[in-house]
Amino acid sequence: MCGIFGYTGFRRLGPIILEGLKRLEYRGYDSAGVAFISSGLQVMKDAGKIDEISRKFNFSGIDGKLAISHTRWATHGAVTQTNAHPHISCNGRIAVVHNGIIENYIDLKRELISLGHKFRSETDTEVIPHLIEEFYRKTGDPLKAIFMAVSKLDGSFAFLAIFEDHPDRIFAVRYKSPLVIGLGDGENFVASDVPAFLKYTKKVIFLDDMEVAVISRNSVEVFNSLTREKVDKEIYIVPWSVEDAERGGYPHFMMKEIMEQRFTITRVLGQDDRIREASQLIKDAQKVFLVAAGTSYHACLASSYWFAEIAGVNARAVLASEFPSISKLVDDKSLVIAVSQSGETADVLESVRMAKKRGSKILGIVNVVGSSLMRISDAFLTINAGPEICVLATKSYTSQLTILYLLVNDLVGRLENAKEEIKRAETLVAHMLESEALLKDIRRIAKDLSASEHIFLIGRGISYATSLEGALKIKEVSYIHAEGFAGGELKHGTLALIEEGTPCIAIVPEDETKDQTLGNAMEIKARGGYIIGLSNEEHVVFDELIRTPSETSLSPIVMIIPLQLLAYYLALERGCNVDQPRNLAKSVTVL
Ligand code: F6R
Repeated sequence: MCGIFGYTGFRRLGPIILEGLKRLEYRGYDSAGVAFISSGLQVMKDAGKIDEISRKFNFSGIDGKLAISHTRWATHGAVTQTNAHPHISCNGRIAVVHNGIIENYIDLKRELISLGHKFRSETDTEVIPHLIEEFYRKTGDPLKAIFMAVSKLDGSFAFLAIFEDHPDRIFAVRYKSPLVIGLGDGENFVASDVPAFLKYTKKVIFLDDMEVAVISRNSVEVFNSLTREKVDKEIYIVPWSVEDAERGGYPHFMMKEIMEQRFTITRVLGQDDRIREASQLIKDAQKVFLVAAGTSYHACLASSYWFAEIAGVNARAVLASEFPSISKLVDDKSLVIAVSQSGETADVLESVRMAKKRGSKILGIVNVVGSSLMRISDAFLTINAGPEICVLATKSYTSQLTILYLLVNDLVGRLENAKEEIKRAETLVAHMLESEALLKDIRRIAKDLSASEHIFLIGRGISYATSLEGALKIKEVSYIHAEGFAGGELKHGTLALIEEGTPCIAIVPEDETKDQTLGNAMEIKARGGYIIGLSNEEHVVFDELIRTPSETSLSPIVMIIPLQLLAYYLALERGCNVDQPRNLAKSVTVL
């Protein structure tokens, strides 16, 4: 949700800024821009993709001492050149790039206009450079001006500011939106996410809320914006490799990340102590809530079946955006298990803050180490899946399922058995992904389905969660309307949509739901539906079979693989932008 990137150091500015921006493009891609200081402050920005804008302005040719840049996912104001970041002060000597939302921008704008400030854009962001300008004019001190501006802002923000008068410093501010500083030798980086600079350094500092960093080529100083005192920050070493953030010969990150599931599933292992600590939190709690958004929510929903069946624990899966409406149920005997790949999803963080206020303990499950969720949780588990760059979540889903499966089994003393099951599941996933015949079949089916208006998916029990996740993958990347249902639900209304040839995918693992799901598929077929079975064997109801292993305990992990592939191939057939679907952004950091 908007990417911001800044650099100061000895390298040529243009190429490094362009590279950082490209690596953050997954966060937003409707416009982009750069501000840099080279005989005065200069700004280049436009609507469109980074490559187009970079060609137009020759970003690679930019030179100077430092730069800040932005790739946008529009919230306030249309996708236009004027609304693209950076935004500048009236005198054009202060530039700002921002990720987040300034909730009180209308009041601030009115106030600033009454003081004579002239606004150019429709964005909330533009109040920031004007506010800073106002306070800088009064104090003559850029840091003080930033502290004073921050004290006026409500909402969520990570922003970078540069001043023409101070051409050796980038000011970086964080409140409820992610910001990380990369520490180099004679150079420093600042970005919304680590992959932007991972090629150059793995040494990072994660800013906390209301902290301001002053970043120059050879130093980084961090201050608490409330007390204005200097803060000592811990330096983390990021455990990811450069290759993790590259496409590695695959045409798209989505395919690379699907394929990585041949080895990412078992990467979750090796945190037994933390799992024990987490299961103790569950044992101590009277109520357990699983809170997440999107794909991570589907992992929570699937695991709620495991919690019930394996451990007899009533763990309620709640969409983070809906959590406020049930938050009264949360108290000091509760545990909220918050699951988030990025650890930065605003709905999830807001739910966690709300739950904490009510005295609940928080167990965070994240992929991004050092993320906000990890840092505000009482205990945390990582999925260790490596950077997920494609906007669609794939490998993080199977890893989230894996860690939740380990956790549930630890509650009943089956951790070691569960580990063996997970190793076996990974082998099955690898067999599927290495089967050229399977990939060919799915590609052919995708071709057949590519002109469909709707695709329905059904599954019962834990496969209901798989149907929701499969549908989400299909719709977000191929733009075909897809819906997942509990197998028994179609006859309560949706069956009316089934016409001759309507495709329906029946998720039929070899478990106790099998016969009933097949029965539901029959009902659909009797109304003309075209049935694609995900199953380990042929059945008379199937018009097509995507053969899956007969594994049952970890069926959500095994069964989602062909659906991820189907979504991918549907997108290719329909000429969609696989890694950056329209209107979306990875890491939704606004409510
Ligand atoms: C779907 C997808 C989103 C995310 C959701 C939560 O492919 O990627 O639905 O799952 O935005 O993101 P995290 O897990 O980062 O909280």
